[in-house]
Amino acid sequence: MSQGWPKHDMSFLGGRRLRRLRQAEWSRAMVRETQLLPRDLIWPLFVIEGQNEKTSIKTMPGVERLSVDLLVEAARQARDAGIPALALFPNTPDHLRGENAEEAYNPDNLMCQALSAIKAAVPEIGLIADVALDEYSSDGQDGLVRDGQILNDETVAVMVKSALVQARAGADVIAPSDMMDGRVAAIRAALDAEGFDHVQIMSYAAKYASCFYGPFREAVGSGSRLKGDKLTYQMDYANSDEALREIEQDIEEGADSIMIKPGLPYLDVVRRARDAFNVPIYAYQVSGEYAMIEMAGAAGAINRDAAVLESLWAFKRAGANGVLTYYALEMARKLGG
Ligand code: PBG
Repeated sequence: MSQGWPKHDMSFLGGRRLRRLRQAEWSRAMVRETQLLPRDLIWPLFVIEGQNEKTSIKTMPGVERLSVDLLVEAARQARDAGIPALALFPNTPDHLRGENAEEAYNPDNLMCQALSAIKAAVPEIGLIADVALDEYSSDGQDGLVRDGQILNDETVAVMVKSALVQARAGADVIAPSDMMDGRVAAIRAALDAEGFDHVQIMSYAAKYASCFYGPFREAVGSGSRLKGDKLTYQMDYANSDEALREIEQDIEEGADSIMIKPGLPYLDVVRRARDAFNVPIYAYQVSGEYAMIEMAGAAGAINRDAAVLESLWAFKRAGANGVLTYYALEMARKLGG
């Protein structure tokens, strides 16, 4: 065995060798601390107008925006693969976007059409509806803008109306992604008052002002509109104590589960949240993270399939209950099959 090389005296180990448990797959499987399962994966999907329409997203190779009929088909595939829930994002047609984001509470908007169509055809899958104004406003900000300022309380009033049309259309989970103060409590109160006490709130509680959302903004068509940044409402990436305050506040306001976003660069926040709070915690492997894996894989710099698996597993190790990921369908099929 020892190829004739001299051995170092290892008696200082006192017999303790950590490699013993890693010597074979049976043993690695036996001591594996976390699992990655289809039910851990939430699939974000982009909706466009039309029939039998799909459009590609340049910065997200492999991801397509889908018209409602194709979305229903995707929902069926997701259900069959064991994915528990979809997160929907509309690409609102240009002529329906405006300063006041009125389309956000049009009961027949693209989001509501998608929600009701999927709810009718695939009632077993959970539907998570994003609530924020950037998908409906002419300036790509998540809140109403007046004289260059993002208005808080006025934005919350619009979001409440938006959440209500979504709940009426069949949303099971309202997911405010805007980072305005007080929106969770306001949405909870409005849902309860309208008889939607069963509708959950998954708040984007610790959402950072991040460059990793770039491809998403192309996907929903807000990127080219956005002037400036989102630093007055999304969090500073230098902070994590503040993330715990955001999370605590959202739980107090009535959030059923919380989200941390982006994902991989913020696993320290996931872990701190896991240690501090006893609520379901989700992390979002965002569009820029997806693009990095795809593009580095295509360039031959990393093994793409291995990177997808390793990156998703890291979320579970950090303590997340689940991950929003554009890889959900592919991975649920692999993991479940
Ligand atoms: C907007 C919203 C964003 C994402 C989800 N909801 C973008 C942003 O805040 O600018 C990003 C998701 C991703 O990058 O995959 N309310």
